[in-house]
Amino acid sequence: MHQSDLSKLSLFPLTKDIDSRGHLHIGGCDCVELTKKFGTPLYVFDEVTLRSKCQEFKTEFTKRYSNTLIIYASKAFLNRALAIIFKEEGLGLDVVSGGELSVAQSVDFPCEKVCFHGNNKTADELKLALDWGIGRIVVDNFDELELLNSLAHKTGAKQTILVRLNPGVDPHTHRHTTTGILDSKFGFPLATGQAETAVVKAMSATNLDLVGLHFHLGSPIPDTSSYQTAISLVLNFAKEMKAKCDFHLAELSPGGGFAVKYTVDSKTPGIADYAEAITAKVKSLATELDLTYPKLIIEPGRAIVAQAGVALYTVGSAKEIPGVRKYICVDGGMGDNIRPALYEARYEVLVANKVSDNEPTNVTIAGKYCESGDILARDVSMAPFSTGDIIAIPVNGAYSIPMSSNYNMIPRPAIAMVKDGKARLIRKRESYKDLMRLDSI
Ligand code: LLP
Repeated sequence: MHQSDLSKLSLFPLTKDIDSRGHLHIGGCDCVELTKKFGTPLYVFDEVTLRSKCQEFKTEFTKRYSNTLIIYASKAFLNRALAIIFKEEGLGLDVVSGGELSVAQSVDFPCEKVCFHGNNKTADELKLALDWGIGRIVVDNFDELELLNSLAHKTGAKQTILVRLNPGVDPHTHRHTTTGILDSKFGFPLATGQAETAVVKAMSATNLDLVGLHFHLGSPIPDTSSYQTAISLVLNFAKEMKAKCDFHLAELSPGGGFAVKYTVDSKTPGIADYAEAITAKVKSLATELDLTYPKLIIEPGRAIVAQAGVALYTVGSAKEIPGVRKYICVDGGMGDNIRPALYEARYEVLVANKVSDNEPTNVTIAGKYCESGDILARDVSMAPFSTGDIIAIPVNGAYSIPMSSNYNMIPRPAIAMVKDGKARLIRKRESYKDLMRLDSI
């Protein structure tokens, strides 16, 4: 087998395998057979990888810092089947909308382990959360602080909250996914004094119980030092607030943003590296500042689901512009994965029905949507393939499906969960009828 094909395999789910015909297997299922059964584009999720990432987060954090709760950031991809898995694995959930909250409710997710985020939660969404008895609401701005306090007052509840801070730390990721710098729509800035005002107001709000502080710098964060810089700023702030208004930091959340390896040559810290950097900094600084160790709330999304998901497409037409580029077109594209168009995200590609050691060629994988920017993978090297072959794009479990659209009136793909040689659909392929279901004439 060609070295580059071998190394690409390391990006696939933990259960990947290649059979004697060169077919890619995931979770004991032949990907070629899966596409015959369910059609393409098809997203395949490996249950073993999903559960193993949940356990890795729990283990790596709790062995260093026992008082940690891992809450899965639903925005990376939520579906009822996944929510059940996270519930079984003992994780909490980070939700950012009434919709995500409803999915959690629909599987009887323990409400005390659910945390509600967002920079513009509506009154209806907040009421839904209050009525359900949600564990935590992370308050993002002054308007929300007032609105939530008055809604809680009406229901007679005392809602537990965290305040989201903006520490002013640049995590060096894509500008579209940078949140911790001063000029951001998220959180109360430390630099302007608004964070201090927020803590004072929250502490005097009659129907709110402020238990901690939250920040989220961005996603994906390629190094661990940004977390440490922000933790230092936030713990020092907590110490100041303790002196000023007797604020007690019972809970601290450094958010999510843990990077994953999308390409063979990308270098990212592992889950253990993030756990070590975060917990070591919290422990040493809390001791130095004479603060009791707060409970840690960690919010991984991408790092839990990304590697578990693989996208499978059927190859259609090809176009070679001599001396310029060879385009190979597949039956999906920016409608099911907008990340390359939006963030210049890079992926590796493999021929799933004949993984081989043949000399690779350079191609560009284009989608079928009517935009020139609809390129899934530019300039990738792959073993030769042709119309009708199946290609697989790994590390596709996060932020592809949840950001999908019906652009060009193309139905969204089916999603299958595989385990022990069995595959079940966790989401049906949309039909043309589904596309018109809510229209009226
Ligand atoms: N916590 C908060 C408050 C967040 O805003 C996010 C992500 C997370 C946790 C989880 O971050 P993760 O561990 O998944 O990196 N659509 C973009 C990513 C947007 C992330 C939004 N917030 C992408 O496809 O790369």
